[in-house]
Amino acid sequence: MKAYELQAFEKQYRLVFSERPSKPLKEDEIRVRVKACSLNYRDLVNQKNLAGRKVDGRIPLSDGAGEVVEIGATVTRFKLGERVAGCFFPKWIDGPFLMSNHQNDLGGTIDGMLAEEVIGSEQGFVSIPKNLTYEEAACLPCAGLTAWYALTARGNYQSGQSILVLGTGGVSIFGLQFGVALGAKVLVTSSSDAKLERTRTMGASATVNYKLTPAWEKEIFQLTEKRGVDHILEVGGPGTLEKSIACLAANGTIALIGVLTGFGSPNTSLFPLVAKNARLNGIYVGSRVEFEKMNAFIEARNIHPIIDKVFAFSQAEEAYRYLESASHFGKVVIKMD
Ligand SMILES: NC(=O)c1ccc[n+]([C@@H]2O[C@H](COP(=O)([O-])OP(=O)(O)OC[C@H]3O[C@@H](n4cnc5c(N)ncnc54)[C@H](OP(=O)(O)O)[C@@H]3O)[C@@H](O)[C@H]2O)c1
Repeated sequence: MKAYELQAFEKQYRLVFSERPSKPLKEDEIRVRVKACSLNYRDLVNQKNLAGRKVDGRIPLSDGAGEVVEIGATVTRFKLGERVAGCFFPKWIDGPFLMSNHQNDLGGTIDGMLAEEVIGSEQGFVSIPKNLTYEEAACLPCAGLTAWYALTARGNYQSGQSILVLGTGGVSIFGLQFGVALGAKVLVTSSSDAKLERTRTMGASATVNYKLTPAWEKEIFQLTEKRGVDHILEVGGPGTLEKSIACLAANGTIALIGVLTGFGSPNTSLFPLVAKNARLNGIYVGSRVEFEKMNAFIEARNIHPIIDKVFAFSQAEEAYRYLESASHFGKVVIKMD
């Protein structure tokens, strides 16, 4: 079967097209013909070696959806022909996170989805929402679940609360969609007025251009009648944390998710979190059970992930470079030929 793998090249990794043998199934495994994958910023981090992870020889991408084409002897969760997606952490089924999950993350420590077919324990897959295409469902495992888990299970979102999302990438646009569906007032920042306009058509209540308004946290604070925001999906990291803390409401929650401004130390006092009786939740995607809850919500509310652009399997490199350009809105997808 055809697959891409990452190969070490000049302190980074390059995407190389490869042929892999098709392995026989163990009794608890399923074989999935991949129909579509999606990219996350994490895939750029791995390919550009920004976090020092060793991924030589690894098939990349955590996110993909496809059709079950073979099942092992003891499989009960799926039948032939069912539509499934892989879990980012295939062994995190439910409950609290265990550090051992870091030994099993798709496209990181184990092979990912950028291949014609994948095999794995049936426990590491979920049925995809009936209302979604394969391309749409391929957007869910990392970006979708991260936004969902941050707001619900960990953020304990309550009716009437407000949400701030930073930028208009994968996680943030899911945050906007879930927030709007939950009835939240959702505020959005972006470097692009055109992207902000699009978020307003999707239900964003207020928007700020963080390039034109460098002190965007003050504007956000004003837009909440000087109350601050209840939930912030913090995808920026060290370069934005101080501002997020500044525009957080009393008793608010910051979901610490991303590293778009790098892996350095934030230059900020944490004391305002104390003064605000706030919570800072480290978030790392979510469990299979949370994935299933999210899928039920997506189906019930007929939510469709926002896909910016679809690339062919042969254009995987172009898809990576497009994500890197940050010109996208929502998700970048690769459709299998
Ligand atoms: N912890 C987890 O479980 C988890 C899961 C998923 C993602 N992440 C992390 O979360 C971050 C976002 O991931 P993603 O896949 O959604 O990324 P993405 O789709 O590549 O998002 C890129 C967008 O982020 C916005 N952005 C960039 N720098 C920004 C800044 N300084 N302030 C505000 N917005 C900024 C830009 O939006 P505009 O063009 O609108 O300005 C850019 O287009 C990444 O750091 C990723 O590693 C973590």
